[in-house]
Amino acid sequence: MGGYTLIENAPLVTRNTLRVAARAKLLAEVRDAAKLPELLDFPAIRASRPFILGEGSNVLITGDIDRAVIAMDTRGVHVEQDGDVARIAVAAGERWDDFVRWTLGQGFAGLENLILIPGTVGAAPIQNIGAYGTEVAEFIESVEAWDLTERRVVTLDRSACTFAYRDSLFKHEPDRFIVTAVRFALPRSHTLRLDYAGIREELERMGVDKPAPFHVAEAVVHLRTRKLPDPAVIGNAGSFFKNPIVDAAQGEALKREHDQLVAWPGQDARWKLSAAWLIEAAGFKGMRDGDAGISNRHALVLVNHGKATGQELWAFAQRVIEGVQTRFGVRLEPEPMVIGTR
Ligand code: FAD
Ligand code: EPU
Repeated sequence: MGGYTLIENAPLVTRNTLRVAARAKLLAEVRDAAKLPELLDFPAIRASRPFILGEGSNVLITGDIDRAVIAMDTRGVHVEQDGDVARIAVAAGERWDDFVRWTLGQGFAGLENLILIPGTVGAAPIQNIGAYGTEVAEFIESVEAWDLTERRVVTLDRSACTFAYRDSLFKHEPDRFIVTAVRFALPRSHTLRLDYAGIREELERMGVDKPAPFHVAEAVVHLRTRKLPDPAVIGNAGSFFKNPIVDAAQGEALKREHDQLVAWPGQDARWKLSAAWLIEAAGFKGMRDGDAGISNRHALVLVNHGKATGQELWAFAQRVIEGVQTRFGVRLEPEPMVIGTR
């Protein structure tokens, strides 16, 4: 009824995968995107720009949130055109992993390398989710959003979204757009991406020599399950730091000094460095201070061992940033949105 529900002083502990026990002064759960203009007119919501929350798998909440929080809980998957390329419009609140599995079941290709990434469809364009050699931007035709500045629905095509590695327009204008739906263009068949480390080996282990998209998805599920800690077991937000991009001269100098350095030289005279390698080499893997620490399974993953506060997690993350900066002269940037006082 009504298309949305308002909750005052709402607990967020089950709404962020780092399991931070913060509260929102006002939480609006939205089930009907058409009701957004009405909701946004409420004085308590108009007072300041709301924060949009999906599944909270890429946020660090460092304290109680004073402004309104809007959780998009809208559903719906519509195939608008089905030929060699299917056009599919998906509501922001759909779970990403459910959608990927549905596309594979329908025989649509493209998203197989992106299976098992937590979160909602509406959040996928925000940081241009990526894994195992694929970024979602490739398959996004357009993003539909409520523009809080212009107070109207806008459709942003792929080029307007300025997607890049873990980056998009939405990160540069963080409080402006509420993504309501994403429109994908998925091919019936395409060249599979098997080059990312571990995929071919995993397919071999599975005894698959002519892989279909669902085989690749299964290989990725195996790799991810082995490598990444499960938020249901230990609070985390996946990679907490982005892989830093440096110019080739700095990359080469670091490689000369540290021959084990893991880095991916790009075609554009820039290198991407493995932040996990830098963090592990700086001695932080498995380290903890109270309940805040770095996973002993993957050095990119900040973990909450139990009752760490958002401030404690942020303080630990800063220790890692300082440690890597001092040791290697490279400044790591957090990947998740850090919200609250910092
Ligand atoms: P939230 O965490 O709720 O929000 C993230 C950001 O998006 C916030 O800034 C929020 O304001 C904004 N936002 C969310 N929904 C909307 C909306 N409808 N409109 C406007 N803004 C919105 N990411 C990868 O790219 N690759 C990976 O391989 C990967 N692996 C992960 C593994 C684990 C175990 C975990 C916990 C996380 C991983 N992530 C990965 C990060 C995360 O899954 C993605 O960033 C995901 O897209 C976040 O979705 P969410 O719904 O949880 O967004
Ligand atoms: N490594 C270490 N120590 C570790 C873990 C990894 O040195 O503890 C080194 C290894 O040499 C390994 C290399 O880092 O070969 C790369 O590791 P991995 O394949 O796990 O990839 P990543 O660069 O650490 C990125 C994404 C992940 C994504 C994987 C797979 C970023 C910030 N992270 O991690 O995305 O799933 O590649 O494509 O780009 C996320 O964004 O939350 C996320 C999990």
